Amino acid sequence: MFEVYEPMEDSLLLEKHVKKYSKNSVLDMGTGSGIQAIAASENADFVVALDISDQAVQKAKSNIKKQGIKNIFVFKSDLFSFFSDSKLIKNIKKTKIKNFLLKKPKFQLIIFNPPYLPKDEGIEDKSIYGGIKGHETLEKFFSQVGLYLKEKGKILIVFSSLTNKDKVDSIINKYGFEFKKIDEEKISFETLFAYLIEKSEILKNLEKKNLKEIKVFAKGHRGLLYRAKLNKKDVVIKKKLPESKAKGRIENETKWIKTLNEKNIGPKLLFSGQGYFVYNFVKGKFIVDFIEKSKKQDIIKVIKDVFMQLYKMDRMNLDKEEMHHPLKHIIVDKKPIMIDFERCRKTKKPKNVTQFCQFITSTSMKQILNKKNIKIKKDDMIKLAIDYKKEMSKKNLDKILNLLK
Ligand SMILES: C[S@@+](CC[C@H](N)C(=O)[O-])C[C@H]1O[C@@H](n2cnc3c(N)ncnc32)[C@H](O)[C@@H]1O
Repeated sequence: MFEVYEPMEDSLLLEKHVKKYSKNSVLDMGTGSGIQAIAASENADFVVALDISDQAVQKAKSNIKKQGIKNIFVFKSDLFSFFSDSKLIKNIKKTKIKNFLLKKPKFQLIIFNPPYLPKDEGIEDKSIYGGIKGHETLEKFFSQVGLYLKEKGKILIVFSSLTNKDKVDSIINKYGFEFKKIDEEKISFETLFAYLIEKSEILKNLEKKNLKEIKVFAKGHRGLLYRAKLNKKDVVIKKKLPESKAKGRIENETKWIKTLNEKNIGPKLLFSGQGYFVYNFVKGKFIVDFIEKSKKQDIIKVIKDVFMQLYKMDRMNLDKEEMHHPLKHIIVDKKPIMIDFERCRKTKKPKNVTQFCQFITSTSMKQILNKKNIKIKKDDMIKLAIDYKKEMSKKNLDKILNLLK
């Protein structure tokens, strides 16, 4: 059931700021009565107003007509779905707006007063309920809005403390946007916040490189990982965390991955820019998970492959570090691929192979490997690792590999 949202405190708080930021092309998402679109129409060339509800579309149209406004165009749409419906767009009579919409529209300002209340049992009013937790519609909006916003465009939103402010902040950042709180108002049981939002520098850069569906997917101590699509393929973007003090890490990692790629080691580097690099997403299982779920012969093949890669790195005098505990450093699909070369460095005494010997003979790994009937004698391994450390030769590596039976 839909009811048209009568302008309330949230509407008025947002409306206060709409005029100031309206110019060129404006999109009013979830227009309801049309209050924001009407405010924007004064300074904008034109406003596209969308709403999921038929009743809201009718109400907005009639309010706009009553005021004699000619530059607002109202359509029914579930968030941005209308823009992908070329049939509907081709039916529009006004040529100027039709041409704008047919050519992947991008707006200077996008306004959204989202439905933001967590859903109550048995009540189904989409004009106010933003999903089970209240922020789902907003998250869906942010996952798509970048496509429809000009590079230097702005977004204005209003939301309530009832939606969970921290969650809203994290959603905005997750999709590569930056926000500024421009207003706040306490009303009876809640506080309303108005935000001005823009694309972050990294988002602008990545969009220029044709990356799509960009979103943060992991945060490390120093780096931030985004996932995105590049020509429909999954890629990962690694960027320095703004708060990290470590210098030159990203540049260091880019340099070594490029070098290692020539030896078929590491994820495939696609390109890099100021403070970030982009590589093919590595699918598969982390090494321990792979071992637990695979057959003896496949496990041995993968462990030997890892040793060979580490041997190549030893010979290059490159230390990956952390190979005695590489739980999140090796991903296995058909082949093992090492990731995370953040700490990689040049040294006369690289420890890749010897650290990996330590790892596979550790107590926890011994148990896991035993279950697969792979028994490695720790004392023999230590002896061979010492020999290898003295002389990093293929012959000594082969002796280590021969223990894997
Ligand atoms: C809180 S009201 C805001 C109405 C108006 N913009 C205002 O400021 O008063 C939220 C509006 O979003 C609309 N809405 C909810 N889900 C939507 C969706 N998925 N796509 C488009 N509009 C949606 C509702 O129908 C409703 O009109």
